[in-house]
Amino acid sequence: MPIKPIRAAVIGCGAISDAYLSNLTQRFVGIKAVACADLDEEKARTQAERYGITARTSADVLSDPDIDMIINLTPPAAHYSVIKQALLHDKHVFSEKMIAVTLEEGRELVRLADERGLRLGVAPDMFLTGGIQTSRYIVERGLIGEIQSANVTVNRNLDVFGDILPFLEQPGGSMPFDYGCYHMTALASIMGPARRVSAFTRIHSPERTRLRVTSPLFGQTVTHTEPDVVTAVVEYASGALATVNFTGCSNVDEEPILDIYGSAGILRMGDPNVAGSSVRLKKPSQPEVTFPFTHGFLNESRGVGAAEIAWSMKAGRPHRASKEMGFHVFELIHGMMISAAESRPYEMTSTFTVPEPLPEGYIDRGFWGPTEESALI
Ligand SMILES: NC(=O)c1ccc[n+]([C@@H]2O[C@H](COP(=O)([O-])OP(=O)(O)OC[C@H]3O[C@@H](n4cnc5c(N)ncnc54)[C@H](O)[C@@H]3O)[C@@H](O)[C@H]2O)c1
Repeated sequence: MPIKPIRAAVIGCGAISDAYLSNLTQRFVGIKAVACADLDEEKARTQAERYGITARTSADVLSDPDIDMIINLTPPAAHYSVIKQALLHDKHVFSEKMIAVTLEEGRELVRLADERGLRLGVAPDMFLTGGIQTSRYIVERGLIGEIQSANVTVNRNLDVFGDILPFLEQPGGSMPFDYGCYHMTALASIMGPARRVSAFTRIHSPERTRLRVTSPLFGQTVTHTEPDVVTAVVEYASGALATVNFTGCSNVDEEPILDIYGSAGILRMGDPNVAGSSVRLKKPSQPEVTFPFTHGFLNESRGVGAAEIAWSMKAGRPHRASKEMGFHVFELIHGMMISAAESRPYEMTSTFTVPEPLPEGYIDRGFWGPTEESALI
């Protein structure tokens, strides 16, 4: 039976739009990007030509009854207004991370989507990819026993990244929100909701001059207002604990650690920002082994969260990259900032239902294998 795809329009045709547009025009069957828009019309035209879709204005796609879903790929400062406008125009939305900049904006968007009965999903959708789903498989089959604690360490050099994507130095785009969210979302999808968090933070080099001579921003002085060195302890509702270390002023090459310690083993989840990152398991007194992937989406799979929403709409079930989980992780990272600013533990106000794992075995093996997308049905 031919499948009628959900028709999507991308708003924001910048750096990450290639990954989305290539997957949403060529890879998935349940959703198809048919149009794109950007404040910079030239960028929209370029991407439209490259992916064989139509370049339009945001207002135009929002008022088109044939567009079912908006894929929001704008910088964080625009997320609130783009998502809100899309919901007010009765569009379902999948948005890049994070849901908004302030907690109040995020809460309002969650409420608005509920009031209007619309789907709202938020990135990172990487927790649906092979490494993290395989990690979950390991945990749920009891291979590490009962989860006791986790260790997150994330490094990046904002002095380099900020020159390329200036929103990374602005509220909502700082390192804990932009990058730490991958690790905290991966943990959330396995360890469930957090109860409270305590943190210390600092801002590295509050004033810095951009030194990349090829950048149009060369020579400008930028003031860092956002904490980007963060050490936190999270207590999960399950009783498990996590230590978190985000360092935005270190090596430019990222060396993330995402380990879960259980009563019967240690799980090393690899890089939650890289879909095919290997998963390692260490059992007591045994050498560490690389675990075979049990799930597909082992390459650049951004857009899988939106595709999963499309299939969940057809099936009439909740989608996995939920606004509730997205908001909870957003609140947790804000909670780190609030805890540090007010010298007290921050008690979480939100919670979420842990999304169902994807079924195992849908690993792309070419013509004879099952299709990866069948895991989303
Ligand atoms: N760059 C990456 O590697 C990467 C990876 C994963 C996720 N993301 C996320 O994707 C989003 C976009 O990131 P990016 O790197 O592509 O940014 P970018 O700055 O390269 O592109 C953003 C685009 O959005 C457009 N835009 C801004 N406000 C708009 C509005 N109100 N209406 C229409 N268009 C608007 C800009 O003109 C620009 O072309 C961010 O939320 C980011 O966190 C980026």
